Amino acid sequence: SPSDPDLVERARAAKEKLGDKVFVLGHHYQRDEVIQFADVTGDSFKLARDAAARPEAEYIVFCGVHFMAESADILTGDDQKVVLPDLAAGCSMADMATAEQVAECWDVLTEAGIAEQVVPVSYMNSSADIKAFTGKHGGTICTSSNAKKALEWAFEQGEKVLFLPDQHLGRNTAVRDMGMTLEDCVLYNPHKPNGGLTAEELRAAKMILWRGHCSVHGRFSLESVRDVRERIPGVNVLVHPECKHEVVAAADYVGSTEYIIKALEAAPAGSKWAIGTELNLVRRLANRFAPEGKEIVFLDKTVCFCSTMNRIDLPHLVWTLESLAEGNLVNRIEVDKETEAFAKLALERMLALP
Ligand code: 13P
Ligand code: SF4
Repeated sequence: SPSDPDLVERARAAKEKLGDKVFVLGHHYQRDEVIQFADVTGDSFKLARDAAARPEAEYIVFCGVHFMAESADILTGDDQKVVLPDLAAGCSMADMATAEQVAECWDVLTEAGIAEQVVPVSYMNSSADIKAFTGKHGGTICTSSNAKKALEWAFEQGEKVLFLPDQHLGRNTAVRDMGMTLEDCVLYNPHKPNGGLTAEELRAAKMILWRGHCSVHGRFSLESVRDVRERIPGVNVLVHPECKHEVVAAADYVGSTEYIIKALEAAPAGSKWAIGTELNLVRRLANRFAPEGKEIVFLDKTVCFCSTMNRIDLPHLVWTLESLAEGNLVNRIEVDKETEAFAKLALERMLALP
């Protein structure tokens, strides 16, 4: 069971045996039973930076999803090993853009005569292949906490942006932060010939949004915002920018997981909050801030955990730490050298954003 004291003790003992050789990173969407063993917790941006700042750790155990572990491998030294406790912890959004599809998209942009004006900006939630494509074509990576800065940078480099793979983060940032309109954005559908767009539509667009989304955040609806405002007068609605544009437009505050935590830390006692992001995090925050008199509810009860984030559980973490402590390197995530070189270029552009 999750709170099995025997497993807790085994995880503690294995971690103690490994000492400074292991560094455990935990994304905010991880289960409590896992988070308790994280040396640092953070949003995707903070974790990428923290992973790179631990050159002395031989093993980086990444409690998060596959693309995060890949990014950590890209940003850490060759002798450091990044380990994902369950190899099935992927991300459905990252899977929505494959290298083949993106190469085909670039051909479509080239045929429309606009490829030279286009700067790719890829969300962290993408495979190392997509990050390498981005680096190769002069683009940058972004996360939900620096998407605005990434777009500002990109529009200094070129006239148009190809935003991969989360249409919602791309659209929300363009409209909320960059003064663009919905008409400045077009949706590229990788399952249709030419992305389902004419060359004229591509030439007129400023933002070419890839048709990807998060299966968790995509389920929050405008109705859930209206319902919670009716149910809880005076409630502050705070959502993640992976939510649909209409949800973000109806919310009071929008930001990354780290932003959400900071906002609640700063919130006055007696304030009420409805949060639109993954359930493990919302529950943890509700429990943490209840004693301070802050009422925190989940924006929509029909939305559930991120199933892939949840694959990392205490049994997987125990198995991973015990294996490493016994000298067995398990579940290593290793990006090949060529992909790594270009992906690193894109990630370093992100880390260099002002
Ligand atoms: P952040 O932690 O960067 O807000 O990202 C959320 C997310 O969906 C990670 O998969
Ligand atoms: Fe991917 Fe969404 Fe899960 Fe984040 S919450 S890992 S974007 S499916």
